[in-house]
Amino acid sequence: MIIRVLGSAAGGGSPQWNCGCDNCVKIRRGSGQLRPRTQESVAVTSDGASWFLLNASPEIRAQIESYEPLHPRALRDSPIQGIVLTNGDLDHCLGLLSLRESHPLHVYTTDRIRSGFTAGNVLYRTLERFPGQLTWHDLDLEGEQPLLERDSPGLVIEARAVPGKVPLHLQDWQSHPADNIGVRIRDTKSGKTLAYLPAVGEASEQVRALTASADVVFFDGTFWSTDELPSLGIGERGAREMAHWPVGGPTGSLSFLTELGASRRILIHLNNTNPLLLDDSPETQSVRQRGVEVAYDGMEIRL
Ligand code: MLT
Ligand code: MN
Ligand code: ZN
Repeated sequence: MIIRVLGSAAGGGSPQWNCGCDNCVKIRRGSGQLRPRTQESVAVTSDGASWFLLNASPEIRAQIESYEPLHPRALRDSPIQGIVLTNGDLDHCLGLLSLRESHPLHVYTTDRIRSGFTAGNVLYRTLERFPGQLTWHDLDLEGEQPLLERDSPGLVIEARAVPGKVPLHLQDWQSHPADNIGVRIRDTKSGKTLAYLPAVGEASEQVRALTASADVVFFDGTFWSTDELPSLGIGERGAREMAHWPVGGPTGSLSFLTELGASRRILIHLNNTNPLLLDDSPETQSVRQRGVEVAYDGMEIRL
């Protein structure tokens, strides 16, 4: 299995267009202490030829261009066989609309996340220009199912509801467990597994089940502290109210991650305010000391 991080940042990316926080300013100045990051998306493959994207970020075009194995191999072609959506937040699904050039797409997600994207969305019609342009594959939240590939079934996926929230633009919807999922992807050839949970509000039985025996775990690294945004005077909502389990502090996710048996534990979906973006911050050092890594664009893992 090859896992390639196309984008490692939370919504807005870093730097974020309207943000003048210390981190964003330092990136713009090219201080070298932290790197620019695009919005979260990861590509995964079993055979190096057929790829699946985990989430479709608003920066999908540049992300595909950034990585040669995702380039077309013929006049009209894409090695991307399918896209998995872990929730309906715009940083995870807006990129679907950018893939509208009359190419068949296969999207794997829950019924709730699908309807959150399609309901009342006139822009979605651009992905319905011809029959079979976009095929939705329902993830049933119980057991494993194959991710379809042209030739052989190399990857199977297990999806489970994990604590999260409805997207901001659907706040008038009643929340539902299937609004936010984590997934475990298993390579049937090597037996290796990747757990991918970029948005986790808190610990749960499902979070433990997905991560317990995975070889590599990607986990919600949005915020270091509960009051990261309010302490900077940016909004009033803390990390937990935004359904992102902070990494640091006495009840942070770091202890949970440290105890996992995975060979790699990697934080992803990092908000631009997060001190973990700084290569040499005390927070980054404390994470590193405990064997937990911080994702960056272009990070690649071969299992
Ligand atoms: C989140 O991760 O909480 C959302 O992406 C926030 C947003 O939609 O801006
Ligand atoms: Mn997000
Ligand atoms: Zn910023």
